[in-house]
Amino acid sequence: MTTSDEMMHGGASSSPDIPSFFDPAVQDDPFAAYEMMREQCPVHRLPENGMYMVTRYDDARRVLSDPKVFSSSPSGRTAQLSESARAAAQVMADRGWVRAQTLQRTDPPVHTHYRRLLGRVFARRNIDALAPRITEIAHELIDAFAASGECEFLNDFALPLPGIVICEQLGLDAAQYPRFKRWADAMLAGAQRSMTVDEAVEQAEIELDAQHHLAAEFEARRDEPRDDLISLLVHAHRMADDDEVAGDANEDEPFTIEELQDLMHQLVTGGFETTTSALTKGLYLLLQHPDQMATLRARPELLDNFIDESLRFDGPVAGLWRTSTCPVSLGDVDIEEGASVMVRYAAANRDPSRFENPDVFDIERPNANEHMAFGFGNHFCIGAWLARTELRIAFSAILERLDDIELARPLDDQVHEFSFFLRPMKELPIRFNAR
Ligand code: HEM
Repeated sequence: MTTSDEMMHGGASSSPDIPSFFDPAVQDDPFAAYEMMREQCPVHRLPENGMYMVTRYDDARRVLSDPKVFSSSPSGRTAQLSESARAAAQVMADRGWVRAQTLQRTDPPVHTHYRRLLGRVFARRNIDALAPRITEIAHELIDAFAASGECEFLNDFALPLPGIVICEQLGLDAAQYPRFKRWADAMLAGAQRSMTVDEAVEQAEIELDAQHHLAAEFEARRDEPRDDLISLLVHAHRMADDDEVAGDANEDEPFTIEELQDLMHQLVTGGFETTTSALTKGLYLLLQHPDQMATLRARPELLDNFIDESLRFDGPVAGLWRTSTCPVSLGDVDIEEGASVMVRYAAANRDPSRFENPDVFDIERPNANEHMAFGFGNHFCIGAWLARTELRIAFSAILERLDDIELARPLDDQVHEFSFFLRPMKELPIRFNAR
């Protein structure tokens, strides 16, 4: 998952009608604001930073379907970087690597090249082969807290499960997953919230730790590849040759270290933050809707639909950016060239023109899987099948082993960490009767 670091700066002014998305209370519960925007100004220019927020389902799809006009490459906007983002970039340039733009930050045909290479690793058959190990990890995590009758679900389960899985897949030491989670947090910090220069530099220092650790991991595999994803990336050109798809000029060259750093950035952030958030929110939604939890227990065949409905209702990625490459009209709004356009998946997923009674959480919803929580178009989440597999295995294990799950204590008034584009919950303390 990559982000646009520059969007967080801007003044404090707020639209008279639409509540400010820089207000933590609005970020915590944005759904009334989304409804106003979908109805009154579906392509809304945020007064704080001039970014356009797109909230209707059809408009979101149009943006995501047209990479020539709505580019995933943030190039050309460096001049707009805030002081803190510039300071962080300087730290990386001086003592680390300036990441190349790969995969999520590219458009076709460059994107196609990266996607083809990585797509094989994340192909369904490869992910399905991981299922027994994911099941084992899920049960081991439950074993660790089952007897106590309570746990802090986020830190005791939702974080380590995808954390250990992505570490093992990449070939990183899974025992160090808390350190890698700190990396992921630091990598995303600039796009989550406004930071002072000191805070931005502190986060950049953590990202430097990540880059140097990863550089050593790349080096160790150059001569001695292992059975892991880092080895595949380091030797990606050979994989292309083996599969006889080396037609593209770039595919017979190994990835540069700047490309490898950027790919790892996307895999570490994508692998950690999002699935943790989906697990936590999925369980929280069941706790808030005990009737739905009872239905799911009685009819486990609804599991996949429950997963889709929770991703639709309140998914981990609220929105992501594109940049307009030319002047363009969307709805009745004229967007200038070079503008930041945020597709707000979370608002599109509650669009009544697509989903009947969109604000009702209904695990039997017939078209729940039409959500855009994994994006849409050429950048559709490459880890979607992995995430679904983890979610399926995790919720099966939880429902099988824990009865009478309830909140152990009331949550904070604002249940999410402030983030401009993600939906991380702060915690989820639960108690239960273990079977
Ligand atoms: C519930 C969990 C997840 C959600 C909701 C999610 C969401 C998304 C979304 C919305 C995009 C589209 C980005 C765009 O259009 O610019 C995306 C792309 C991506 N995701 Fe995920 N993701 C999840 C899990 C994962 C996992 C487990 C991984 C990897 C280990 C991952 C890696 C990526 C990567 C590398 C991309 C870029 C793909 C490309 O540009 O072609 N994601 N994800």
